[in-house]
Amino acid sequence: MALITKKIKGTEDVLPRQSYRWQFVENIMREESRAYGFREMRTPVFEHTELFARGVGQTTDVVQKEMYTFDTKGGESVTLRPEGTAGAARAVLEHALENEGLPIKASYFVSCYRYEKPQAGRLREFHQFGIEEYGTQSPVADAEIICLAQSVLDRLGLSDVHLELNSIGCPECRAKYNQALRNYFSQYKEQLCPTCLTRLEKNPMRLLDCKSPEDHKIAEGAPKITDYICEECKEHFAEVKKYLDAAGVEYTVNPTIVRGLDYYTKTVFEFVTDCIGAQGTVCGGGRYDGLIEELGGKHMPSLGFAMGLERILLVMDAKGIEIPQPEPCALYIATMGDAAKQKAFSLLRQIRECGLTAETDVVGRGLRAQMKYADKIGAKYSLVLGDNEIAENKAKVKNMESGEQTELALDETFAEKFSVLTLTASKGFEI
Ligand code: HAM
Repeated sequence: MALITKKIKGTEDVLPRQSYRWQFVENIMREESRAYGFREMRTPVFEHTELFARGVGQTTDVVQKEMYTFDTKGGESVTLRPEGTAGAARAVLEHALENEGLPIKASYFVSCYRYEKPQAGRLREFHQFGIEEYGTQSPVADAEIICLAQSVLDRLGLSDVHLELNSIGCPECRAKYNQALRNYFSQYKEQLCPTCLTRLEKNPMRLLDCKSPEDHKIAEGAPKITDYICEECKEHFAEVKKYLDAAGVEYTVNPTIVRGLDYYTKTVFEFVTDCIGAQGTVCGGGRYDGLIEELGGKHMPSLGFAMGLERILLVMDAKGIEIPQPEPCALYIATMGDAAKQKAFSLLRQIRECGLTAETDVVGRGLRAQMKYADKIGAKYSLVLGDNEIAENKAKVKNMESGEQTELALDETFAEKFSVLTLTASKGFEI
């Protein structure tokens, strides 16, 4: 049969046999963010286009080249979120969350959409775990969110993914730096790509993250922000480093890290690895003290980061980190006849209410085929229900590995006794 279509380029399916890997990683992220006092926030997958144009920045690659933007039937321009920060900030403002007290601490899992050239670790639909914190200018907050990212990586077995840190200063130091960049890049006007020529006037810092190899080469010799940041920004950066040192978080200061989005100020950071090819940044973030004002709110210094879930999973694979498989089916009930089917149905409910996984036949297989299926799904125990078992109101539960059988009454004590059986068997006790 010919399929009428296939998945869109740059997108991926997560199949039932793979989803436990995602859940394992997401659970650790949830636990760690909770430990640091963050609570989950969910925002829409699309927003008005101007949110990203203003928030992420008109001259960024994301806004200029990569957004999925379309007009609705009502004539509005909307965009699938290319990242999570702008939507989260919009929601914070719209719901006046500052009235609930500062800092506001939000975490999220979002799907994001960027029309980039797909390659290993670079997709058009990808997923981020993110953290945002609003209403603090303290360097302690910078160090704290970096520690949170590090804790997540440590628990995933990725402690050796390296932290690179920089400060890109405030608007005052940026003005001087932009002038230095204009002076430098003006010498190469003939060689720059057309996008960078417009950036030269409007936002020269974006020339530093141009993906064209020629421009990238020129950018290597550009002035470094470190030589232009003001005393206050220097002091802030020194404090961030002090707290990271106190927490034992290792980092390298890398003055070439400027991030590809416009909202950043002061601290910026990336966690990078060289084990998955060119797309080795698994986490990126920093401070964005001006974003909330840019979106129409009051001055509210803020910061955050996002980790790419696909890249995290790629690194775990590359490093051979094993993710624990979910618990298999605890009990498979094979049935013969209608009465048995009905009895199985009520026993299964009891078992599932105890938090155990249980299955029965729903495709009309014969007994042999049912047992084969139980084997295939790795069921730990099986139970055959036929007319005899129903008449006697008891049946033998079989341990699929050892073959050992235990008789249990098929009454309201069944699930409880079965739970005890599974627990004692896993601890090696006799009952
Ligand atoms: P970003 O650096 O654009 O930052 O993305 C964060 C992470 O998302 C990257 O480090 C990478 O792991 C993953 N990622 C980005 N693009 C792709 C792609 N095309 N395919 C697969 N993974 C990708 C942000 O998005 C900011 N909003 C982070 C932030 C939050 N800053 C402050 N708060």
